[in-house]
Amino acid sequence: MAPAFVVRACVLSFWAGLISGSPDFDQFVKMVEKNIADAKSYKFPVDNSKLTKLADSGGSRVREFGEFDFIVVGAGSAGAVLANRLSEVEHWKILLLEAGGNDNEFCDIFGMAGYLWYSDMNWGYNTTKQKNICQAMPNQQCFYVRGKVRGGSSTVNLGVYARGNREDFDRWEKMGNPGWSYRDVLPYFKKSEAAVFAGREGKFHGEGGYMHVDVLNPTPDFQPAMFKAFKELGQDKVDYNGKNQLGIGQVQYSLNYNKRDSTARAFLDFFQKRPNLYVSLNSFVSNILIDTCTNAAYGVEFFKNGEKYVARSTKEVVLSAGSINTPQLLMISGIGPRDHLRELGIEVIRDLPVGRNLQDHLYYAGMFYRSNQTFYNETPLEALKDYTYNKKPLTSAMELVVFARTDGSKKGRPDIEIPLAVPIDTDSVRQLNGLSEEYASKLGVDKLHDIWMPIILLHPKSVGSVKLKSRSITDFPAIDPNYLSQEEDLETLYRAVQFIIRLNRTKALRGYTATFRHPPVMGCDDTHPRFSKDWWYCSFKQLSFSILHPVGTTKMGSDAFNSVVSSTLQVHGMKNLRVVDAGVIPELTSGHTNAPAIMIAEKAADIIKKTYKVLEFV
Ligand SMILES: *[C@@H]1O[C@H](CO)[C@@H](O)[C@H](O)[C@H]1NC(C)=O
Ligand SMILES: *[C@@H]1O[C@H](CO)[C@@H](O)[C@H](O)[C@H]1NC(C)=O
Ligand SMILES: *[C@@H]1O[C@H](CO)[C@@H](O)[C@H](O)[C@H]1NC(C)=O
Repeated sequence: MAPAFVVRACVLSFWAGLISGSPDFDQFVKMVEKNIADAKSYKFPVDNSKLTKLADSGGSRVREFGEFDFIVVGAGSAGAVLANRLSEVEHWKILLLEAGGNDNEFCDIFGMAGYLWYSDMNWGYNTTKQKNICQAMPNQQCFYVRGKVRGGSSTVNLGVYARGNREDFDRWEKMGNPGWSYRDVLPYFKKSEAAVFAGREGKFHGEGGYMHVDVLNPTPDFQPAMFKAFKELGQDKVDYNGKNQLGIGQVQYSLNYNKRDSTARAFLDFFQKRPNLYVSLNSFVSNILIDTCTNAAYGVEFFKNGEKYVARSTKEVVLSAGSINTPQLLMISGIGPRDHLRELGIEVIRDLPVGRNLQDHLYYAGMFYRSNQTFYNETPLEALKDYTYNKKPLTSAMELVVFARTDGSKKGRPDIEIPLAVPIDTDSVRQLNGLSEEYASKLGVDKLHDIWMPIILLHPKSVGSVKLKSRSITDFPAIDPNYLSQEEDLETLYRAVQFIIRLNRTKALRGYTATFRHPPVMGCDDTHPRFSKDWWYCSFKQLSFSILHPVGTTKMGSDAFNSVVSSTLQVHGMKNLRVVDAGVIPELTSGHTNAPAIMIAEKAADIIKKTYKVLEFV
């Protein structure tokens, strides 16, 4: 999922009295207003008890839901794609279970993503208390958004389509995963994609897939200014999903004309009516049914509308619940680290390092340039009008992105990513990161003149974990990304800061009298000289946040000591049980994680079809 970059329409109080237009547009604006108002008064759940509450509290009756060839758990970035591809085989019966409800037309507006995070479409997780990041946040816990809705996180993210670097996938293969090199996975990236934008490198993009990929119409002056400025730092213009990732490029979005193209929109909307595909929403899976004599999975238990059900599978159970919920469900079902399961009183079916190796991107939010130019200035109402009448996407403010190496080399994979965003405003920074109002009010962002250049750390050395708090699925999992626990990560951020400050001397930015700015940093300004190395290290801890790209918790690899699934995504030592989601990624990619999750599902579908020798039928 993409991070908390700012949205372009926020302050709805502006709108009162301004609204005029067609009745349809008025209705649309009312719908948007209602969703924003609901988000502002939303109270987060503290656990899953709303999902597991039984209507008939006395009864322990479990109802039969039926028998299927495959049961896919989670209709998210991967599950929706997998269910689509498996249901191409007409004689297979597929059940797709999703804990959340339907998506809607509010979800289609990328620029409103931040409000979806304050709704039941988000699980409502926070990380455990962190020592080295999110220090500016209440209780030092990072806000940890995960989609709980048809389409999963692809329905609530900011929609960036960035696959990563070819070297990332070659490394996956070298780590003991034959079939996952760049050359092997490129066809699967292309298979899903309907890329339509000018300037793409055609060889690297698909045109006939289901999911649209597009760029934004440029904000006048902004793009030329940024291309020139970064050119002075040696960064050429690139299609970052093409041959060369290093450089500066337009952000590619999962975007269909002006609307979000989530995996639900792209892979389910037109396919849900297939007679062999059963999509069951509001269905929260609580246990995997396993025959302990053979270690074979044969179904799942789940809660739906106050009832408990069991669904049975004749071929496989496939977990696509994501990097947080899949390890939780595995551990609850007895598959996980022996000591951890025993201490919670869970019978161990298979000892595997489930939940270990949590890797995630983080970003440092403190970097700004203040110019004398207003690049973008549309009221929220104007932006919504454009969205409705001119089919202009209303998105997060990221138009351009830089992928670079802090050692200055032009070869290999990037270690940082810098999205370039106008405009940004304090309220959205606050809301999207869960900052306190007091803290946010001190940031002093100038909405009209500031260009935001947050730094994403692409290959952090810090590794964390997902664990259980108890043996009950009603409890949230304990998510500890352990960010910035390795000195090397701070050093990389420090080199990235120096890189961005070099822009201060570029001719291109002097043309806009744009100079480097940094907001005050509570807890650092009184203890260290501003812009000293110690001050930077202190600031990294205060103003860094999760980018919400968790991977690796059900790592793919060749042995059961260091990994959870094989290169065919089967859980080691188990039968009829696979994981198909970003959790299998052994090492973080140099991009965003939605595109790889989709690719993994595309490839998994072919692996499964080959296993059952049906590839010739499709
Ligand atoms: C998570 O953090 C948010 C924002 O700080 C807070 O409102 C919410 O209550 C927290 N939830 C839990 C379960 O701690
Ligand atoms: C950036 O440039 C301005 C104007 O030349 C200068 O005043 C300022 O000190 C510079 N900032 C940094 C961090 O180098
Ligand atoms: C911004 O500053 C530059 C350089 O001083 C100047 O040429 C330009 O006219 C200014 N632009 C605005 C909108 O004030």
